[in-house]
Amino acid sequence: MTQILEIRDLKALARRRVPKLFFDYADSGAWTEGTYRANEEDFAGIKLRQRVLVDMSDRSLETTMIGQKVSMPVALAPTGLTGMQHADGEMLAAQAAEAFGVPFTLSTMSICSIEDVASVTTKPFWFQLYVMREREFVLDLIDRAKAAKCSALVLTLDLQILGQRHKDLRNGLSAPPRLTPKHLWMMATRPGWCMKMLGTNRRTFRNIVGHAKSVADLSSLQAWTNEQFDPQLSWKDVEWIKERWGGPLILKGILDPEDAKIAAKTGADAIIVSNHGGRQLDGAHSSISMLPRIVEAVGDQIEVHLDGGIRSGQDVLKAIALGAKGTYIGRPFLYGLGALGKEGVTLALDIIRKEMDTTMALCGKRRITEVGRDIIAE
Ligand SMILES: Cc1cc2nc3c(=O)[nH]c(=O)nc-3n(C[C@H](O)[C@H](O)[C@H](O)COP(=O)(O)O)c2cc1C
Repeated sequence: MTQILEIRDLKALARRRVPKLFFDYADSGAWTEGTYRANEEDFAGIKLRQRVLVDMSDRSLETTMIGQKVSMPVALAPTGLTGMQHADGEMLAAQAAEAFGVPFTLSTMSICSIEDVASVTTKPFWFQLYVMREREFVLDLIDRAKAAKCSALVLTLDLQILGQRHKDLRNGLSAPPRLTPKHLWMMATRPGWCMKMLGTNRRTFRNIVGHAKSVADLSSLQAWTNEQFDPQLSWKDVEWIKERWGGPLILKGILDPEDAKIAAKTGADAIIVSNHGGRQLDGAHSSISMLPRIVEAVGDQIEVHLDGGIRSGQDVLKAIALGAKGTYIGRPFLYGLGALGKEGVTLALDIIRKEMDTTMALCGKRRITEVGRDIIAE
């Protein structure tokens, strides 16, 4: 096996180990994938200032996100179907994040449930909420997250309707997966994945099945998800969700300064500058290119976080320098998980940590909390 030195190596290994339909599900964006690519590429255009002969000893990446201590400002983003990249994926990723000292965010559309993840972790994780038309189910989800002592609710705003991903349609990916001969072949060629999957009973959307009224079994889930995302979700809904939840609230999916200004007035604790990893509005700007404008608009009123396209510790550092208080990684941890399970998630975090630490030092800084625009070259 080739040495794993960067996130790209984990991606290559995941491609070999995860059935194509699930690997493609992670490695895809909407339509032309232009925004998906821009998220990654626009980081490369930002240049750093090299400094010399400054004290580079005793460095620290420790900081806070929404007042909670983190060993570095990198959380795991909520991702659906993570338990299909690797058996019990959400539980393993949550454990890796906990040991590393960074937040794990569980998606509403996860395979392992809130209760599954709570049963294998000792510290609070974060929960991401999709607002469904079946409000009773949404209220119940919020209450379950509270009962599991989740320490933040991440409310996703940019998926009232689904963007189209060609790869998923061509692969016939559905939720839950249908077992066609093509899918069986994709799985049979990944025997290690199959063995682990056979060893768990967590293979469906366990936050939903058995909890939502109209979803008793797998056959009705697909119809349910298609009709359940609420296209009429509005800023008014943020109010009652905030009230019902009563804890730290993060609004995810802000890409426009005007929306950021409205979000800042809701009393939420943070916003995430995000285009859903390029999976929703293809043709939208990259997250990193919108960050400075959003920080300028609301940076003094609300904590600003960013996700989308982070593939290295350098990318994290650039986001922090441009005003983000925290960042999230989606695909990098999914590739780690698909490649090597829990150890792969730890490895992804470790690669990013080392890259961030070295880069910070070579820019002449010793603490992440001191990093600002002055490390960016004009
Ligand atoms: C496979 C996959 C599934 C995702 N599922 C969700 C989800 O269920 N809820 C959500 O809010 N965001 C979801 N996202 C978006 C991520 O939270 C995050 O915004 C994005 O992955 C960041 O970009 P990156 O993958 O380039 O790091 C998903 C992303 C991926 C790649």
